[in-house]
Amino acid sequence: MNKPPQWIFRPLLLLSVVQATNSELLVTLNNPPSSTVRGHYETSYHGNRYRAFYEIPYASPPIGPLRYKEPVPAKPWNGVKGHPGPITMCPQDPLLNNTINVGTEDCLILNVYTPAKPSAKKLPVLLWIHGGGFIAGSNFFVWGLALGRYDPRYLIDEDIVIVTANYRLGPLGFLTTTDGVIPVNLGLKDQRLAIYWVKDNIELFGGDPNNIVLAGESAGAASVGYHLIATYKDLPIEGAILVSGSALCPWSYQTKARENAFELARTLDSTFKSNRSEDLLKLLQSATVQQIMQSTGYRHSQGGQTFNGALPLAWVPTIEQGDHFFSLPQTDAIDNGKFKKIPLLMGFNEEDAINPIITGNYVQKSLAWDEHPDWMLFENIKISSENKKELARKLKALYTNTSFKEDVPSVIKVVTDSVIAMPVIRFAESASKHAPVYMFMTSQTFMKHPVPGIEGVGHGEDMYYYWFNELITLTPNFEPTRTRFVKMISNFVKYKKPIPDAETRELFDNITWPEVKPGNISYITVGSEATEVRNDPRNYSKVKKLLDSYLEKPVTVYL
Ligand SMILES: *[C@@H]1O[C@H](CO)[C@@H](O)[C@H](O)[C@H]1NC(C)=O
Ligand SMILES: *[C@@H]1O[C@H](CO)[C@@H](O)[C@H](O)[C@H]1NC(C)=O
Ligand SMILES: *[C@@H]1O[C@H](CO)[C@@H](O)[C@H](O)[C@H]1NC(C)=O
Ligand SMILES: *[C@@H]1O[C@H](CO)[C@@H](O)[C@H](O)[C@H]1NC(C)=O
Ligand SMILES: *[C@@H]1O[C@H](CO)[C@@H](O)[C@H](O)[C@H]1NC(C)=O
Ligand SMILES: *[C@@H]1O[C@H](CO)[C@@H](O)[C@H](O)[C@H]1NC(C)=O
Repeated sequence: MNKPPQWIFRPLLLLSVVQATNSELLVTLNNPPSSTVRGHYETSYHGNRYRAFYEIPYASPPIGPLRYKEPVPAKPWNGVKGHPGPITMCPQDPLLNNTINVGTEDCLILNVYTPAKPSAKKLPVLLWIHGGGFIAGSNFFVWGLALGRYDPRYLIDEDIVIVTANYRLGPLGFLTTTDGVIPVNLGLKDQRLAIYWVKDNIELFGGDPNNIVLAGESAGAASVGYHLIATYKDLPIEGAILVSGSALCPWSYQTKARENAFELARTLDSTFKSNRSEDLLKLLQSATVQQIMQSTGYRHSQGGQTFNGALPLAWVPTIEQGDHFFSLPQTDAIDNGKFKKIPLLMGFNEEDAINPIITGNYVQKSLAWDEHPDWMLFENIKISSENKKELARKLKALYTNTSFKEDVPSVIKVVTDSVIAMPVIRFAESASKHAPVYMFMTSQTFMKHPVPGIEGVGHGEDMYYYWFNELITLTPNFEPTRTRFVKMISNFVKYKKPIPDAETRELFDNITWPEVKPGNISYITVGSEATEVRNDPRNYSKVKKLLDSYLEKPVTVYL
């Protein structure tokens, strides 16, 4: 993973030859002013030429005194940036293995892909926030799947402009002292700066600055959810897409942020005894990135087995007192309409947790959870420990009549629901009180999953249908799914409706896609089989009834 495979570079290198003099390939930005980037031509899935601009800095390098500080816009530069070259990833944990260090601290860049002809009508914009559990991934590589990239060549044929942005990850993006010394949610603030960059500059690439849709998958979707409930007022987006994640996901919220920060410091330097934020900042600004990355300890800190999921995540967003990213508990914000009320497209996969990245060791879990059913529930849900045991017992009965050991597929179902599906559905239902929400479930898989007795579409698999991947061959039986995904997403970007006209409707077997309503969660299936309209995904109403009678208010994370 230190050295990406050769094929990654092939399309870039081939296309960088002899096109440099074409004037539409040079763009001088509005912000920072007088700063020029150079693009390259690439070829879409259907053979159309589009322009790709790589590695545009949208922030000053978050290094030296700017490490652990809010991102500041990039300073004007001389010369020309935007060459395809080394691929910049923020420092991260490579595929759950911290024995190798991957990434560069100076990583706040974005890529722009545009099919626009100069001077034509401005095109709608898709701004993509990548997933990777807030500890991995980049705007170029898809992490957690077979190595692939966010390759826009399917979506670009639909005449939308696409932007993908990096943001600080792990302990560089989400460690905080919570008192402003090391501000809260730096990684989300990087994303926010990228949104403003798009607003300021995208017209120069043929994009419409008044028609930006923010989208993401997994931790990217959780991020989008946080931007929606953020307390800053001028978020310049017109719609949002959240796939397999929301701001109610229990893994996307840390409740012990300050403790986590000081614990890292003591791991980094065993002589560090201070409890002053300024001392912590000084220590961390003088350490190397490698020292910080190797001191995270998150794999051990929450006692692996008790954790529902594969990764006990410490370095994730948290509520911010005072300096305003988001300051209300999540459900209070959404239920009471204190969020950006714009159309939403939300989805999940038929069995997200069948992907081992999500589930971890399900056999070990089945044994542990029979012994301790309350280990099914995340540590940071709001509930007393007594009630937690009772809730866990009742919850278990919704999934299995026997034991997890004898009924391992039920473990997968619990993880799918608690890690992805329920937080997504609950967010959708709340938001639907105030804004249009369309929901879908990806229903076609092309992978052989290792868990006997259960099938379904695992976490991240949806992305193969709308991001091109050189490593995967989509055989003709996947073509309807691919087409449906590409149309659904691009239509939503353009019209804020996934099915805007009769022609698209026919592609979805003439169904009418009902919006989600409180108390009546409708969704459609997206696969190669006939599209179906269904209600009450994942037996949500039963699970909700149980959870709502136990969870304490305000609800920050769901299950
Ligand atoms: C971590 O990566 C190293 C180097 O590639 C490899 O030797 C080792 O087996 C990996 N460990 C795990 C737990 O995957
Ligand atoms: C820091 O430690 C001092 C001395 O042990 C203690 O008085 C103080 O309350 C602590 N402050 C915080 C914020 O924990
Ligand atoms: C439990 O057993 C009953 C009777 O065999 C069956 O109808 C029901 O679907 C089972 N429930 C679960 C959650 O497996
Ligand atoms: C959808 O409706 C159109 C127009 O009424 C009709 O021609 C077409 O056969 C229908 N397609 C399907 C799959 O039902
Ligand atoms: C729920 O929504 C579906 C689709 O719009 C509708 O057919 C159904 O009647 C609704 N159910 C209730 C109980 O309102
Ligand atoms: C919902 O509950 C029914 C009946 O208990 C069960 O057959 C079905 O598999 C459940 N659906 C999911 C997605 O777990």
